[in-house]
Amino acid sequence: MEDTKDYDLNASIDPKGLRQGLTSYGDAHFSLFLRKVFIKAAGYGEDALSRPIVGIINTGSGFNPCHANVPQLLEAVKRGIHLQGGLAIEFPTISLHESFASPTSMFLRNLMSMDTEEMIKAQPADVVVMIGGCDKTVPAQLMGGISANKPVLPLVTGPMMPGSFKGERIGACTDCRNNWAAYRAGQLDMEDIIGINEELAPTAGTCGVMGTASTMACITVALGLMPFGGAAAPAVSSARLRVAEQTGVDAVKVAANIEVSRPQSILSRESFLNAMTVLQAIGGSTNAVVHLMAIINRHPKTAGMIDLKTFDEVGRKTPLLVDLKPSGGNYMHDFHNAGGMLALLHTLRPLLHLDALTITGETLGQRLDATPFKPFPYSSKLIRPLSDPLYRSSALVTLYGNLAPDGAILKAAASKDQNLLDYEGPAVVFENTTDLAKRIDSDDLAVTKDSVLVLKSIGPIGNPGMPEAGVIPIPRKLKGVSDMLRLSDGRMSGTAGGTIVLHISPESGIVDSPFGIVRDGDLIRLSLSERKLEVKLSDEEITERIRTRSEQLKDKHVAVHGKRIVGTRKRGYRGLYESHVNQAQDGADFDFLTAKGESAYDDTTA
Ligand code: FES
Ligand code: MG
Repeated sequence: MEDTKDYDLNASIDPKGLRQGLTSYGDAHFSLFLRKVFIKAAGYGEDALSRPIVGIINTGSGFNPCHANVPQLLEAVKRGIHLQGGLAIEFPTISLHESFASPTSMFLRNLMSMDTEEMIKAQPADVVVMIGGCDKTVPAQLMGGISANKPVLPLVTGPMMPGSFKGERIGACTDCRNNWAAYRAGQLDMEDIIGINEELAPTAGTCGVMGTASTMACITVALGLMPFGGAAAPAVSSARLRVAEQTGVDAVKVAANIEVSRPQSILSRESFLNAMTVLQAIGGSTNAVVHLMAIINRHPKTAGMIDLKTFDEVGRKTPLLVDLKPSGGNYMHDFHNAGGMLALLHTLRPLLHLDALTITGETLGQRLDATPFKPFPYSSKLIRPLSDPLYRSSALVTLYGNLAPDGAILKAAASKDQNLLDYEGPAVVFENTTDLAKRIDSDDLAVTKDSVLVLKSIGPIGNPGMPEAGVIPIPRKLKGVSDMLRLSDGRMSGTAGGTIVLHISPESGIVDSPFGIVRDGDLIRLSLSERKLEVKLSDEEITERIRTRSEQLKDKHVAVHGKRIVGTRKRGYRGLYESHVNQAQDGADFDFLTAKGESAYDDTTA
């Protein structure tokens, strides 16, 4: 071992591995020698290798136009890292785009989180910048980053610019839905819809409304992990590149103080309460509730300590302030011009936990103090003061009751007919999306404007991957009806609206799900004021129907693993997914990835 002493372990390429004596070869010095052989093959000199190493996750992909600006962001992040004296090394992980991830991007979110976690842990970086953006990528990275517990700095690609058609601004994807509905109703002709198609996503970047991507970006700022300007600066703006450069600078600073900068050290219950406050104030996507629960449950200090009721408690105190589509009328680009998250956090100050830590080592309050914001007329129009909100409180609510013993979510602010928020009506039930597609527009469908539309089998296990099919279309025979009460165990796009109850739990794919036994004609009751979702059946009747359903499943030889109705057990990732995905109220994560490593429906021995 004499001659190996020449190797300086403090200047190694594996700071967290070799410096701690961890090596896959059993000989730390030989391992370092080998790693240096191969890193030198990439052209790095000793000086470069002695610097703090900042890994940058590259999620650019030809199938992900929301990440089309990743090459420019990489360049800017690297510039920041090198200016601050660090060494930047990029590496790839999975990239997910909403429209090009089959069967659903949600099905693959947990896979991306595993890839992110394991690559962060495996590779010799001190700190990691995670470039993400499209809906499921930021949650996957936050989940993986928290589990890996190496300091991580998220950097989103930023929202796309709005487009324009015949003088009117349009943007993905609220206007995708509105215009498609108008085309279906004969209000737009083929030429128009083709023209609109060209303009809905006119630049690189994520959907330009307050959909899931924008919501998660705002939440990431609220968690203290991204600069204030990091959520809303447009993907194609110079401001976005400056955020990227700043992230590189911050990453090297963080490397000087790794222990205090680990996500599990920074993030606390208070950080997540701040995230929920922002979610309510922006009228954010319902998907963020599932993602936040998954993120919270990855953290040993918060797993099991926060549940859906917490969202509701925060919501009761928090008004909806940001006037963006789909709840309002503007785009992320406007939000950026109005002051973005800096303006919003200053406005929300009385409702925030200002002592929550952030990635720079300062508290949120200290950072806000250091960056004042003075509202001006335009900013106050888009980001309302607390005294003049768009919606007084509870934009997003949590419901419980005999139909959703483990909870359900409703974006009350997105309801188009507020009378439906305290309502009772008979169910029209669709067993799954195939059944829905077959019958929804049929003249024979026994439905009236007073019916409650129910769609089963779109939960985490059901489809699988909890598709965004929760916005059940209004049956064609009810022409002119703009909203109905609709229920499902699935999700809806953050860009959609209506009186839509989502994430009903347990989902119908669980054997003893009360939602799974609802039949045509059953009376459904929603009470916003009581936060209740009920089916007017006795406990005995529900138990009896659950028993009958289990018998029928056996007769039809449908496989039930533990309590999961999964049909024939599948191979590969799908098999893993169906066996281990937990319910929406827990984040639809894999039971073995949560900080507690368990699930209410654990069937690993089945
Ligand atoms: Fe990527 Fe909307 S499709 S953010
Ligand atoms: Mg979306």
